Amino acid sequence: MNESSKKEKIIKSKKRIQNHGEVFTPKRIVNKMLDMPHIREACQNLTSTFLEPAAGEGAFLVEVLDRKMKMVVENYGDDLTQYENYSLLALSTIYGVELLEDNAQKCVMNMYQVYYEAYRQQSITHGAKVKKKVLDSAKLIISNNIVQGNFLAKLTTNGNPIVFSEWHPINLRKNTKIIKILRTEYTLEDILNGVKKEGGEPATHLVRGDQLDLFDFFGDEEVVEAKKKRIKYVPVKITNVYKEEMEEIDG
Ligand SMILES: C[S@@+](CC[C@H](N)C(=O)[O-])C[C@H]1O[C@@H](n2cnc3c(N)ncnc32)[C@H](O)[C@@H]1O
Repeated sequence: MNESSKKEKIIKSKKRIQNHGEVFTPKRIVNKMLDMPHIREACQNLTSTFLEPAAGEGAFLVEVLDRKMKMVVENYGDDLTQYENYSLLALSTIYGVELLEDNAQKCVMNMYQVYYEAYRQQSITHGAKVKKKVLDSAKLIISNNIVQGNFLAKLTTNGNPIVFSEWHPINLRKNTKIIKILRTEYTLEDILNGVKKEGGEPATHLVRGDQLDLFDFFGDEEVVEAKKKRIKYVPVKITNVYKEEMEEIDG
């Protein structure tokens, strides 16, 4: 065992092991597992998707991200714009669920740190500064992809359905530089049932802040319903996902 693996904290407390089966996987073992045939290839494929149902502090997810980020440098390291676009695409394919708040928060922070450090290094190589919109988009993606909840119950800690966003690239060709994505939300239940949705649909139909006339409440229910506007996500550049742009459906 080397110095760095000795310092790894894989157990927090006996109680947490008893209550939640919490024992973190040492980096050495994570790497052995990710080096298995097919998994190693999946980590090198920027669009292959990973979902860790008991993510802990992200031992596996962080390593998968690190491997994908290395592939982005290898393939798109010559052009910073391409690096920014493909690194966000790689990030968008990694998902996790974790029950405990402190672990879920640490997992989010660990993912962001790996992304930020790799992007910072790449920017230095190109003599440029990191861009706020890229980092804001990375934060938005990570905070939506890593969910605090109970994977078995398919519910968040608040008792709402666990929801994941699919970040579907809509213009991916060999030489695409600026990637556009369409975000669609699925509940975990939807995903496990293989439900297919129309691109852009949120998990529940949100109602835009359109004020209803007070008198509508005394009127026909259909009129009230018609005044509520259903909205969906619009296709956007991946470096602009942080804006979470939506539009009304049916005009
Ligand atoms: C054995 S640890 C593994 C953590 C991480 N995968 C790793 O390898 O380091 C199990 C983790 O699952 C979490 N957990 C337990 N029950 C869960 C559930 N029903 N849904 C989501 N996470 C859960 C625990 O809090 C703990 O962090």
